[in-house]
Amino acid sequence: MSEQLTVLETAAAARIAACAQAADVEQLRIEYLGRKGALTELLKSVSSLPAAQRPAFGAAVNALKGRLTALLDQRRAALSGAESARALEAERLDVSLPGRAPFAGHRHPLSQVFAEITDIFHGLGYTVAGGPDVDDEWHNFDALNTPADHPARNVQDTFYIKDRPGQLLRTHTSTVQIRTMMAQRPPLRIIAPGRCYRRDAIDASHLPVFHQCEGLYVDRGVTLADLKATLTYFAHQLLGPKVRIRFRPHFFPFTEPSVEYDFSCIFCGGAGCRVCKQSGWLEISGAGMVDPNVFRNVGYDPEAYSGFAWGMGVERVAMLKYGINDIRLLYQGDVRFLEQF
Ligand code: DAH
Repeated sequence: MSEQLTVLETAAAARIAACAQAADVEQLRIEYLGRKGALTELLKSVSSLPAAQRPAFGAAVNALKGRLTALLDQRRAALSGAESARALEAERLDVSLPGRAPFAGHRHPLSQVFAEITDIFHGLGYTVAGGPDVDDEWHNFDALNTPADHPARNVQDTFYIKDRPGQLLRTHTSTVQIRTMMAQRPPLRIIAPGRCYRRDAIDASHLPVFHQCEGLYVDRGVTLADLKATLTYFAHQLLGPKVRIRFRPHFFPFTEPSVEYDFSCIFCGGAGCRVCKQSGWLEISGAGMVDPNVFRNVGYDPEAYSGFAWGMGVERVAMLKYGINDIRLLYQGDVRFLEQF
């Protein structure tokens, strides 16, 4: 009988020692000590022994039960220590590492340029004025001294609103000059950033919807020199102190004299490169002294007041500032592109 117990103990001890997981230990506990376990069965068999052997056998089984319980507990404790150590290692977290900030996004490069332009002119005492995108021929052309047969009025160039005679999508922000002068008396200094529309075919430098920023300064004794100084200051603030500006004679119906103005190429410093087509200059837009006819159209006395105005293509300025070679990139919403600014 006791030999049977020894064999059982040796086998059980070996199996317990071989357990790799806490669940295996539990399995063995049930197998040996459970309600139908091997030791329980042995205890039950005590009653079938001769009375003289019962106490000794019962005591031996109970002692074995105690030893197996101890072995199971030890093994379980050892395994759970190892298991939690492994789990801790796998989930290890270095709380001293610096955090990784989520990408928060930022303003679109065009919005950034708008903000910058506005900020620079705020510094010169300009306020921001606005007008509607859907305007009329009078504000877009007539009041700006643009004759009825001017080619810009052509349906090939301008989006007219169907079934609304005389209404159109403004082709430039110069409409805001008229709206502001109709509403205020001089002196005035405004810029007018906004969207414009032209029936242009889409290519690397044209879109049918684009942005301009208009400027207008009216007071007594304003001269072309003030215009040049203002635009030079603007160029320096926007692109740095090395940028030079030049005026080329031009024609606009609403200014006299009129100029086109260029900035020296910020990519080659004026020496000539691919971006400026070897000329050393980058064309920005038009400007000039407000035509007396425009003053008359808004009820200002051209003998008493003079003023200058300018327009600039905001996409163009953004492209120059950031070295972007295709206007369409600004509207494709590709994050890989936008992230760069
Ligand atoms: N409106 C002109 C255009 O869209 C740009 C322009 C030229 C605006 C001369 C002005 C100006 O205010 O004085 O091409």
